[in-house]
Amino acid sequence: MKALRLILVGLGARGRYWHEVICRSETCEAVAFCDPDPVARAWAETRSPGVPTFGALDEALERVEADALVLATPPDTRDAHLELACRFSLPLLIEKPLALDLETARRYTLMAERADVPLMVGLNFRYLAVTRALKALFTDDRLGPPESARFTYERRRDPRAPHLNKYPMTMAHPMLWEQSVHHLDLLRYVYGREAVSVSCRTTNPPWSLYAGDTNVFALITFTGGLVVSYQGLWQSSWDVPNFEWRTDARRGVVVQREQFGALAYARSEAEALTSVALPPHETWITDTEGVLRAFARTLLEGAPLECSAHDHLQTLSLVEACVRSSALGERVDLSEEAAMV
Ligand SMILES: NC(=O)c1ccc[n+]([C@@H]2O[C@H](COP(=O)([O-])OP(=O)(O)OC[C@H]3O[C@@H](n4cnc5c(N)ncnc54)[C@H](O)[C@@H]3O)[C@@H](O)[C@H]2O)c1
Repeated sequence: MKALRLILVGLGARGRYWHEVICRSETCEAVAFCDPDPVARAWAETRSPGVPTFGALDEALERVEADALVLATPPDTRDAHLELACRFSLPLLIEKPLALDLETARRYTLMAERADVPLMVGLNFRYLAVTRALKALFTDDRLGPPESARFTYERRRDPRAPHLNKYPMTMAHPMLWEQSVHHLDLLRYVYGREAVSVSCRTTNPPWSLYAGDTNVFALITFTGGLVVSYQGLWQSSWDVPNFEWRTDARRGVVVQREQFGALAYARSEAEALTSVALPPHETWITDTEGVLRAFARTLLEGAPLECSAHDHLQTLSLVEACVRSSALGERVDLSEEAAMV
């Protein structure tokens, strides 16, 4: 038996990566899988024979002893799971976003705090080697403090693809809540700053396959005057995706040209960029392993909880401010929202 017995809830697109990561873990093992979809349960039964599967979490908790839960379920299905986790005193590792509005996310955070249940959000992009290397460039002060940045993520995401989830097709603001939430969290994490105001406009182009807005254009001001221009498109008009995150700091520039790597920097006077060496990376696995290891460190060694729900509220307040700014057509000041977090 391994040190941590986990129940994995949700065996869809993301849950299947979690299945792989838990199976490979040296400290964690899956003791049950939950999903109302019989096809998803059959998938797990084939890959992990002998591990019981259930259609609902309460059935699993009646029959199986576990130390913690991993939730890879759609964000609007979490009420009952949160209540069960608190009732059974089970720590939770939950996929982002914790909820689809700040008020619900606050309620979950409070429930977990009152029940003394650690609640971590699976922000896997924080655990990429490229993210750590980028953050280090600012914490070691090689290039001085960041002054401005341009974050571009452009993609023509087809939700009909078999490996992609379908529920965002009918969501309000699918890009902001499903994808930009990662990017906005990365901005906070890498720069170690909080957003103070945002002017945002969201659109849904005529060719969009989604009901809600998929394209996000935001100008965000962070503490210390750092200004970030963010463009996140889920419905670009080109099948070839594009990623670029450039930061202009006081003594030079940093450019990340791929979502999972390709980091380089230059001092202001340098003629060319210098690449930053990064360790090998297995997409969606290495980063998710980082999340699981951090969760296990908290539960087994008492390490401080990383990506806590409480911290996540700051990112969600920025997401919600983007929604509000676009609806109002004006700049939104975050100090009021942050005070409520
Ligand atoms: N961190 C990342 O990189 C990343 C990537 C993709 C998705 N996600 C997140 O993971 C979560 C799930 O997304 P997905 O892409 O796997 O969606 P999905 O629709 O592909 O899969 C969701 C699964 O949850 C199951 N489910 C629904 N209600 C349930 C319930 N009450 N109990 C148990 N299972 C239930 C569904 O049957 C389905 O199998 C979302 O929060 C999403 O934002 C994160």
